[in-house]
Amino acid sequence: TPTRLWGGRFAGGPAEALARLSVSVQFDWRLAPYDLAASRAHARVLARAGLLDADELGRILAALDDLESACAAGEFRPSIDDEDVHTALERGLLERLGTLGGKLRAGRSRNDQIATDLRLYLRDRARGIATRLVELTDALVEQAERHVDTPAPGFTHLQPAQPIAFGHQLLAHVQALLRDLDRLRDWDKRAAVSPLGAGALAGSSLPLDPAQVAKELGFEAPAANSIDAVADRDFAAEFLFVAALVGVHLSRLGEEVVLWTTPQFGWVELDDAFATGSSIMPQKKNPDIAELARGKSGRLIGNLTAILTMLKGLPLAYDRDLQEDKEPVFDAVDTLDLVLPAMAGMISTMTVRVDRMAADAPLGYTLATEVAEWLVRRGVPFREAHEITGRLVMICVARDCALDAVSDEDLTEVSPHLTPEVRDVLSVRGALAARITPGSTGPGPVADQLASAGDRLQTW
Ligand code: ARG
Repeated sequence: TPTRLWGGRFAGGPAEALARLSVSVQFDWRLAPYDLAASRAHARVLARAGLLDADELGRILAALDDLESACAAGEFRPSIDDEDVHTALERGLLERLGTLGGKLRAGRSRNDQIATDLRLYLRDRARGIATRLVELTDALVEQAERHVDTPAPGFTHLQPAQPIAFGHQLLAHVQALLRDLDRLRDWDKRAAVSPLGAGALAGSSLPLDPAQVAKELGFEAPAANSIDAVADRDFAAEFLFVAALVGVHLSRLGEEVVLWTTPQFGWVELDDAFATGSSIMPQKKNPDIAELARGKSGRLIGNLTAILTMLKGLPLAYDRDLQEDKEPVFDAVDTLDLVLPAMAGMISTMTVRVDRMAADAPLGYTLATEVAEWLVRRGVPFREAHEITGRLVMICVARDCALDAVSDEDLTEVSPHLTPEVRDVLSVRGALAARITPGSTGPGPVADQLASAGDRLQTW
């Protein structure tokens, strides 16, 4: 007979259609280790409350340990009749302890249990995700170190804008990921609250010790309000936001890698181990990792949307809708666990074709701003300087030549302000070297940025 946790007031068993809709054990089984940890803490609290004697506590703890090893070894598995992870584990406990196993449920409800399990799971897995994020960030920093003064064109509107150091571009992605790491750390502070003790919604008449349980499970504090304890899924929604934002950051990086690896750009060559081929076109080398990172951001955003939509308008305290919190969370964790190591490997092994990138740096008149700012340093109002430089660009576009390919006479014809000394600023290296303000793309500021990014990564 199935071990339902709620049979007493029902004349018969649930309809097949209800059971099939209701069952969650096929996905919540991964919470088993966390549910068992929470059970151990709960058993100790029941014993301190005088509701279990020393012998009973010992037997219950031993059975929980045994069940945990059996789960880990795959010897104990949920059956198709187990509604959820709690039901399956209670069955395992009853198999080991007989009626004594039924004592553990005192003072708790699946409502506070599931909220506790999911918090424990997510805090645990978020640490692993942070580690993988650090690995990707490290890979970007290492590439940036190699390219502190590798010139590249920087883009706005994906049109050539101004020369930049390629390392500076990579470090822009590093900044985004460092913020994500900060967000995870900050998220954990709010997630570190223990729902256990809330029971179904109102707390318990039994002398439980929620603060002690919280401490034992590594939480910072017990929940301040038992209704909020079982109704709140902010921690899941907030985690899914961070995951979605990480996904968006990876998709923007991925998109750039896709562009850089096209023969049209030809800036980056992926390592064979991190690229794929085509089943029909023998010449192909495709950046699938970058594309999958870009594509999977869709499901990460979807998971956030799913949980927010599920929560919207839900009356307090617990509603069964909340069972729908788990799959989006698990999917986000699994997705990041897959994508982050692949991206880290792809970035750390990619080869940058410095010569091609440097050759592209001045194309599209990216030094035009240098000319305008040179005029400004000579006292020409920027509005006029912009106009003059624009006329110079127009001539060069018509002749299909570079800014420094026009004659001195042509320069004075465009404007008497344009003396031949302007040629001094018409070099990419010069443009980079001239950028000395903090956070800019010059070699000095980029080196400073590398150092501070390294310091921030050290804190992880
Ligand atoms: N499987 C449920 C969930 O994930 C556990 C809590 C069920 N509580 C209840 N009263 N039916 O939310």
